[in-house]
Amino acid sequence: MKKQPYIVTLEKGKNYAWCDCAESQTQPFCDGSHTKVNKRNENLVENLQEISLISEDSQKLIAADTKAPVFFSTDKDTEVSLCGCKESNNAPYCSGAHANI
Ligand code: FES
Repeated sequence: MKKQPYIVTLEKGKNYAWCDCAESQTQPFCDGSHTKVNKRNENLVENLQEISLISEDSQKLIAADTKAPVFFSTDKDTEVSLCGCKESNNAPYCSGAHANI
C-alpha cells in the first residue's frame, strides 16, 4: 500500500477497476487479488469457528469487509489522483485522507 495518491492519465470511454484490497500488483488498478483476500478471510472465520474463538458479531464484521474493486470510467482524457492509501472517502479518487495516516 502506498500512502500517497497515484497520478494517472485516464482515457475517455475506457473502463477501469480501482483496487480496494491493497494487494494488487498493478496498483492502483485491480488484478483480481481481492478474490484471494476474500477467500483468506473466509478461511480465517472457518478456522476460528472450529476452535470457538470468534463471536457471531466478529464473523459479521469480517464478512462485511469483503473486498471488491471500484469500477469507473471518464468522459474525457484526463489526469487524476487515484487513492493509494485505500482510506479515501471518495474512492477511487484521493480525498486527502492519506494525510491522516
Ligand atoms: S492516497 Fe489520498 S486519500 Fe488515499
